[in-house]
Amino acid sequence: MVEDQLYHITYISTGRDNLRYEDVKDILERSNVNNKVEGITGILVYCNKHFFQIIEGSKAAVSEIFQKIQVDCRHDNIVKIQEGPIECRQFDSWNMAFKSYNKELNGLDDFNNEQFYSYINCQLGIHNDVSLRVLADFFDLNG
Ligand SMILES: Cc1cc2nc3c(=O)[nH]c(=O)nc-3n(C[C@H](O)[C@H](O)[C@H](O)COP(=O)(O)O)c2cc1C
Repeated sequence: MVEDQLYHITYISTGRDNLRYEDVKDILERSNVNNKVEGITGILVYCNKHFFQIIEGSKAAVSEIFQKIQVDCRHDNIVKIQEGPIECRQFDSWNMAFKSYNKELNGLDDFNNEQFYSYINCQLGIHNDVSLRVLADFFDLNG
């Protein structure tokens, strides 16, 4: 299928203090429902209270979801890392993939460490993108 110009936003944030398994589960469930409707794909990574997220799709859909995310009280300190047009999706098999480095959230993971490492490095071989590079460094530090 030929798509309109694709766009992405990548950011990091800090989860609120008492964030629990059920909160993250709820974020992922809502994300998967909404993102499917809006044609959004991407990944959410969680490590020691910090989120990292890549959101891909049409500019309108990505901007709209990001506006909602920015006012979500389950996190704060939102810092945008990258925003702009992209050639193709890097997480086209997931409406919102999830990878956690906190074992209490392992039940929500789409990848184990080895699968994640291999997927990110394979994608990096295709597109040497800043967001993926940050993600790979994140893995090197935390994996
Ligand atoms: C770290 C984080 C990531 C999120 N990612 C998404 C997302 O990818 N898609 C989405 O629809 N909502 C996401 N949310 C939830 C939104 O902030 C918001 O609660 C939700 O979109 C509201 O959905 P509703 O309008 O269907 O009630 C995220 C929230 C947090 C805290």
